Amino acid sequence: MTAHSSEHATTHRTHPHLPRRIVVLTGAGISAESGVRTFRDSDGLWENHRIEDVATPEAFERDATLVQNFYNARRAQLNDVHPNPAHRALASFEQQFPGEFLLVTQNVDDLHERAGSQHLLHMHGELKSARCSRTHNVYQQHTDITPDSRCPCCNTPTLRPHIVWFGEMPLFMDDIVQALEQCDLFLSIGTSGHVYPAAGFVEIASQAGAHTVEINLEPSRIKDNFAEHRYGKAGDVLPGYLQSLLDAQ
Ligand code: APR
Repeated sequence: MTAHSSEHATTHRTHPHLPRRIVVLTGAGISAESGVRTFRDSDGLWENHRIEDVATPEAFERDATLVQNFYNARRAQLNDVHPNPAHRALASFEQQFPGEFLLVTQNVDDLHERAGSQHLLHMHGELKSARCSRTHNVYQQHTDITPDSRCPCCNTPTLRPHIVWFGEMPLFMDDIVQALEQCDLFLSIGTSGHVYPAAGFVEIASQAGAHTVEINLEPSRIKDNFAEHRYGKAGDVLPGYLQSLLDAQ
């Protein structure tokens, strides 16, 4: 299937009410145009690793050095990438939108905050943070975590990437579910819908009466759960879509 087949048809539908409370969910697709690779590329590998070899607690127990080096490389890569028009459009929309706005990202890069987004929750953690495995204290981390890195709290080498791995509980879930239950517009951008609980957010929002929109390169696994679909690159589609919301205010 290609992004142009009839099954990928964009469906435009007028929003039933002017939105007052918006929740946006982003995934790897929004950072793709910045040069950050998505997780589920056609070869099934993520930066040449199987996800289960680098993104599970078991992987960290098995080979901490491999996992630390993997995330060290991802962290270092952030120095070479920049926010793209989709990140910037969301930040600018948030500044102009008079209602309540929450951006929830599954991404662990810092491109949303560098674009200027304010109300932002990183539900899968952040590359630029490290966590003490013992106390769970979180610290800013801009450089590599090495076997000599010690946490400020217990001065032991117990730092791990502040990343939610498979089998671990995503962060901020109470706040996110509350916002979903109160929103009247839910946008899902650049996510394949493979990973829960994020893939279930559309159902929470639509049960609460929100209008739901999928913006993605191609239809996601859960496309049928959305009322409206816009397909194309986020950097192409999102600025115009968000401007149309502002124009409707
Ligand atoms: N614009 C919009 N969408 C895009 C673009 C683009 N330029 N490029 C790719 N996409 C879409 C792909 O078609 C795909 O549907 O982005 C989606 C990315 O999907 P995944 O790689 O599965 O990423 P994501 O959904 O964010 O993964 C969820 O899985 O591995 C875990 O914790 C990790 O947060 C991650 C979670």
